[in-house]
Amino acid sequence: MAEVVLKDIYKEYVEGIPVVQEFNLEIQDKEFVVFLGPSGCGKTTTLKMIAGLEDITRGEIYIDGKLVNDVAPKDRDIAMVFQSYALYPHLTVFENMAFSLRARKFPQDEIKERVERTAELLRIRDLLDRRPRFLSGGQRQRVALGRAIVRKPKVFLMDEPLSNLDAKLRVHMRFELNKIHRELEATIIYVTHDQIEALTLGDRLVLMKDGIVQQIGDPRTMYNRPANVFVAGFIGSPSMNFLDGKLDAENGSLWLDLDAFRLQVPPAAKALDDYIDKNIIVGFRPEDISDKDRAGFASTGNVMTARIDVIEPIGSEELLYVSAGKHTFVAEIQEISGGTSKKRALVEKEIELAFNMDKLHLFDPETENAILNP
Ligand SMILES: Nc1ncnc2c1ncn2[C@@H]1O[C@H](COP(=O)(O)OP(=O)(O)O)[C@@H](O)[C@H]1O
Ligand SMILES: [Mg+2]
Repeated sequence: MAEVVLKDIYKEYVEGIPVVQEFNLEIQDKEFVVFLGPSGCGKTTTLKMIAGLEDITRGEIYIDGKLVNDVAPKDRDIAMVFQSYALYPHLTVFENMAFSLRARKFPQDEIKERVERTAELLRIRDLLDRRPRFLSGGQRQRVALGRAIVRKPKVFLMDEPLSNLDAKLRVHMRFELNKIHRELEATIIYVTHDQIEALTLGDRLVLMKDGIVQQIGDPRTMYNRPANVFVAGFIGSPSMNFLDGKLDAENGSLWLDLDAFRLQVPPAAKALDDYIDKNIIVGFRPEDISDKDRAGFASTGNVMTARIDVIEPIGSEELLYVSAGKHTFVAEIQEISGGTSKKRALVEKEIELAFNMDKLHLFDPETENAILNP
């Protein structure tokens, strides 16, 4: 059992300048929670407060119901894995992993048993006699994880542990971490600035900005029902398109006036009365805008003409960077260009695009909070 509760956490390094505030979170036993956000938003600071490596200015942290504000790091039963995992260069993989157990005076046979079982889990059994400099980056990273795992801590804290690895290895380690989490049945709090890493690893994500939690939710919720413009723009790649528009009422239906074109709001959309004749931020993900002739969502009031500025093939799909009046946005469509020469011919040409109105997001331009999510 390892629940972690953060209650109204506030942190300042310099008096009066908060770097984390109003942080409230209950992490369940065995949950994989990811702290996500741009550099400097307070992720590492929060993790260090949980580990006990950084004082908490105000608020309370509980591990398994016990207030740990004044408990020393070594007594919190937590293991932390950092981005820069310094292994001892003169020790073998086995000894690197055994180090903390020896320091705690574990019996010889238990050390051997734990290191070997962990090495099995991490698939580094055949590397136990090697020294770190004879290992690849991914292998070293696994040893660093192994060092934490042998201790069987209640909670794992991981601070951007994959960011030193190249892209391909990162994808592989992501897959391994998912498996390891299942096998260990441990509570993991994982920090990253990489939204894809967060979406693929986390049971729940905590997205932060400037020390303030913007939204907490499972990956699907964060993607489909973002609480505000920041969340909507941070999660998803390419990012959600935001278009400045106005909401008009006409003969009982609502329209989004985007100057160069207009889109009809689905009748099911509720609670928009307050915004009639007012400015509104319109959000569409690239995959919800498509070539009219191929879109499964061509209906009425959702088609417009745009000019193609750039075409980017991304494998099975193409990204169309288009413009219409003052707006520029990205549509992700099935390949229309069919080859490089045709692609060149299409740029600067016009295309009819359809918007999937069932996937419309609307935001308040002042608060930037979501008014409507699909
Ligand atoms: N030891 C420190 N002293 C003063 N300011 C710090 C210290 N550590 C971090 N900060 C500041 O706190 C903010 C949050 O930093 P950090 O938690 O490292 O962010 P993240 O991990 O999300 O990139 C940043 O503005 C950073 O400059
Ligand atoms: Mg950090």
